[in-house]
Amino acid sequence: MNNSPIGIFDSGIGGLTVVQALHELMPAENVIYFADSIHLPYGEKTMDEIYKYSKAITEYLLSRGCKIIVIACNTASAASLKKLREEFPSVTFIGMEPAVKPAAEQSLTKAVGVIATTATFQGELFASVVERFAQGVDVLRQPCPGLVQQIEAGELDTPETETMLRGWVEPMLKKNIDALVLGCTHYPFVKPLLEKICGPSVRIIDPAPAVARRTRHLLEQENALAEMAQQGIVHYYTSGPADEMAKQIRLLRVDDGKNCFGLKWVEGKLVS
Ligand code: DGL
Repeated sequence: MNNSPIGIFDSGIGGLTVVQALHELMPAENVIYFADSIHLPYGEKTMDEIYKYSKAITEYLLSRGCKIIVIACNTASAASLKKLREEFPSVTFIGMEPAVKPAAEQSLTKAVGVIATTATFQGELFASVVERFAQGVDVLRQPCPGLVQQIEAGELDTPETETMLRGWVEPMLKKNIDALVLGCTHYPFVKPLLEKICGPSVRIIDPAPAVARRTRHLLEQENALAEMAQQGIVHYYTSGPADEMAKQIRLLRVDDGKNCFGLKWVEGKLVS
């Protein structure tokens, strides 16, 4: 048993979709969540910049006694997962990769769509996932610049967001995709709108539940699950204004927004 927190980070509120999935599966776990809101969006930054941030965030989470690190961001995983594992060999990391495998395996039309950030598509991780799991399947890639910012602004079902999504998704529908992979942890927040646009014949795949299951599996293996009797607490930290984040958390109905705190970047390190 180990009641130390799980450390989770993202560029913003996207990783909250992973926190929700984790807590559904493991309600006893304590979590420290960090949103690097001041550097958002990661998807339009260089791999080197994103790695620099990810490393400093990992150091902070480890200094807070986190027992495992979940990179709840496809972009940060693409830029950093491999290097972080090399840099911190004794730490268990869980990263995210677009769920091309389940989409391709079950595709009847042999065409699937992936929406993600520009940086995620540029990373080696995405290329290797397609290479390993999507032989014989047409994988259509669509970057969605600006969508993360819309979601951060709470524009989950406005006409403007719908127009943006239609512009990206309808061309893929014309090419007969039967699955749409959400390759960015922010995107599940617009899943209802995507369902409306795609209709019932397209499966929309959110990898958060699979990441939660993988985290539980690794914690079990390490005998590091929290005691079942307790109710886990999530503490939310942001490099942006804490009251803004509290508002977002309430708006998204993730939590009551009471446990939100600010952190500052000082000379490349996070300090409270
Ligand atoms: N949630 C991040 C991801 O999964 C969004 C990245 C961004 O800030 O652009 O890729």
